[in-house]
Amino acid sequence: MGDKESERERYDDRALRMLQEQAAALGAVGSTAIPPVLRAPYLFYEDAVRQTVSSGDRVLEIGSGTGMHTSILVRTGARVTATDIAPHTLEVLARNLGDIGRRVTRCVADMEALPFEDGVFDSVATAGCLSYGEPTKVDAEICRVIRPGGSFVCVDSLNHNPLYRFNRWLRCRRGDRSASTLRRMPDESRIRAIRRGFSALDVRYFGGFTWALSAIGQVIGASRAAELSDTLDRWCGVRRSAFKFVLVARGRR
Ligand SMILES: C[S@@+](CC[C@H](N)C(=O)[O-])C[C@H]1O[C@@H](n2cnc3c(N)ncnc32)[C@H](O)[C@@H]1O
Repeated sequence: MGDKESERERYDDRALRMLQEQAAALGAVGSTAIPPVLRAPYLFYEDAVRQTVSSGDRVLEIGSGTGMHTSILVRTGARVTATDIAPHTLEVLARNLGDIGRRVTRCVADMEALPFEDGVFDSVATAGCLSYGEPTKVDAEICRVIRPGGSFVCVDSLNHNPLYRFNRWLRCRRGDRSASTLRRMPDESRIRAIRRGFSALDVRYFGGFTWALSAIGQVIGASRAAELSDTLDRWCGVRRSAFKFVLVARGRR
């Protein structure tokens, strides 16, 4: 089985178990469901979505999964199409989003070959998914489906810090993620490649010290550790050593 199939199976089985065990907790969506020490990039992503997406916009979310970051898109008043390669994740998404989920069009789709016409979306958004497809194919597909002048917003992990790379490698060894997702984890050259498709790009980096936070949190508490981490990120101008980044690309060429 190739990596694409094994990732689809991993996420689909997980979602199926949630459906069977009735474990998809209603309301467990958005940045508030994320532990405080990891929350800052997701809060920033939500702000970026609110600033970029307008009511009535046609927005495509790639790799929506169980809808953790879909609700922020829906709450902008946009017409959201949520996509994922694993069909059961979209069932969990519908359950998790409750009433607002009725405003979301769900579609099983591979991010390497999106089943949409050119330029049909005002924006594309994605959270934590860029490593699940071949970068050149995924980036080309994202640009293809965004109308000229449209935007792309994403939050994802960055591939430069050796501590985070080692941790991902361990997870790969344990079978929790495929080798190709390690190889395709976004880095600065990927960000530069995305930039070429747009007239403007802003990137904010987070979590240069996330590796130390659980120990620090034991002493000063999780939420103070999170504040300290954000302050250190700003003071040190964290960039390549970041754990996560949020990218906002405007003006699709
Ligand atoms: C790390 S999860 C992120 C899910 C969600 N965005 C979130 O933040 O909770 C990655 C998601 O990408 C989906 N995925 C993996 N490969 C994909 C592909 N080739 N095309 C579309 N979705 C894919 C998985 O099924 C999974 O739901």
